Amino acid sequence: MSLIKNNIKIEKNPFDLLEKWYKKAKKNEISNPNAMALSTVGPFNKPRTRMVLMKEIKENGIIFYTNSNSRKGNHINDNKNVSINFYWKSIDRQVLISGKIKKISSQESDKYFLTRNRKSQIGAWASKQSQKLKSKSNLKTKFDEIDKKYKGKEIPRPKYWNGYCVYPDSFEFWLQGEGRLHDRVEYKIKSGQWTTKLLYP
Ligand SMILES: Cc1cc2nc3c(=O)[nH]c(=O)nc-3n(C[C@H](O)[C@H](O)[C@H](O)COP(=O)(O)O)c2cc1C
Repeated sequence: MSLIKNNIKIEKNPFDLLEKWYKKAKKNEISNPNAMALSTVGPFNKPRTRMVLMKEIKENGIIFYTNSNSRKGNHINDNKNVSINFYWKSIDRQVLISGKIKKISSQESDKYFLTRNRKSQIGAWASKQSQKLKSKSNLKTKFDEIDKKYKGKEIPRPKYWNGYCVYPDSFEFWLQGEGRLHDRVEYKIKSGQWTTKLLYP
């Protein structure tokens, strides 16, 4: 009976499976297939989740960029445990990842910052991400000031705007199944080796 078939084709390395699913998501999602929910842990062990954009899947980590002075930046400073969730509606799949986070090198962040469009570069300078904003016009004034300051010049990366890499120690690949018999495959790393097991849905 087809219902008992596990439809997730298990790869030895979870990054290969993530790449495979992401490729499929890119073909099917209407927008932002790289959007992921990022959870961090704040003061009093209170978790908080928000969306960020994954910018690169590396051999052993997942990269996104943000303002290090933001709320999430402060959380990350104090607690390196984070989790990520990708949910791709169009292909009925989610991937849950947990691991430790680390700032990437400033050279790597510089390199990526240069590829951003000018408005996003100005935005990174103009926004004190997660701090109290009195009025939207304050932000607009700041934006215009920066725009003027760098007219005809290359905009450097603000030191507080950085890339972060999440180094996973576990993955769960979830694929929607018929009759709620979803497929779940969990990967965990043990002594540098990835092990897998199936989970009940
Ligand atoms: C689809 C989507 C993608 C986003 N991507 C990013 C991102 O890559 N980096 C970022 O700093 N904020 C991103 N944001 C905004 C964050 O969700 C959040 O509002 C902001 O980073 C402040 O979060 P914090 O106060 O928890 O630090 C994105 C929001 C959405 C809806």
